[in-house]
Amino acid sequence: MNNELYAVVGHPICHSKSPRIHSLFAEQTGEPVEYTAVQAPLDGFAATVHQFFENGGKGLNVTVPFKEQAWALAECRAARAEKAGAANTLYQNNEGQLVADNTDGHGLVRDLVANHSIQLKGARVLVLGAGGAVRGVLGPLLEQQPASLTIANRTVAKADALVALFADEAGAATLSACGFEEPGQPFDVIVNGTSASLQGDLPPVRANVIGVGTVVYDMMYSLQTTTFNQWALDNGAVRVFDGLGMLVEQAAESFRVWRGVRPETAPVIDALRDD
Ligand code: ATR
Repeated sequence: MNNELYAVVGHPICHSKSPRIHSLFAEQTGEPVEYTAVQAPLDGFAATVHQFFENGGKGLNVTVPFKEQAWALAECRAARAEKAGAANTLYQNNEGQLVADNTDGHGLVRDLVANHSIQLKGARVLVLGAGGAVRGVLGPLLEQQPASLTIANRTVAKADALVALFADEAGAATLSACGFEEPGQPFDVIVNGTSASLQGDLPPVRANVIGVGTVVYDMMYSLQTTTFNQWALDNGAVRVFDGLGMLVEQAAESFRVWRGVRPETAPVIDALRDD
């Protein structure tokens, strides 16, 4: 059978791990998937997407800085992508319409719950940041029914806006917003969704958010311990995780959406750690 074509689109794209991840999925499942990386011009995302599908492409992942554009370009959106305001997965439905999905939040929750056995139901969760990355994961986090979800951000107004946007998905969870210096008590789970570590910075949150048993998750990943996780370890956190598992899990969910087959993620996470 001829391979069917998939790709990740971004700018820049040369460091993307998605081609490696999806090649491992294809090998493991025997699905006829060929997956490449495409750099779209900064002013040419829509044209790149249209050309890809016109040429017979089956599905795209979308990364920085195009996730919001992908969401806007789509003619239909999966429910979980709607409020995320951003899409990382595109494909065409049977009517030829462009469909947007967002598997990032699913990837985060699955890495926390399934891979690391972290209980989110009933947990006090602190999310740092209120940008696009955080907006993409709030819905799936709230679905887990935490006792509370606190969004702390440098610009508090942006955290307030996310609380207003997701208020109707909070269920019994207490959903609130604050500045970094405010949450003065320990949390069960802390998720760093700021882009501060890209500049080697730390969100200036106080160390007393870490208590006995606090689990810390940095949505960033790097070969070395991330700046945020190192700060957490230095301040008493015992369990810290980076976002490599989330990256592989969001990819597996995209693969499932496209192919109807869910790959095993553990061997792929191990392979990437060894790269
Ligand atoms: P992304 O798509 O990665 O979420 P974004 O939408 O630009 O990117 O959001 C970046 C997030 O990281 C924001 O929450 C931002 O805080 P502001 O809303 O106050 O701008 C946060 N951030 C970026 N650099 C930071 C820094 N040096 N310290 C603390 N927070 C930072």
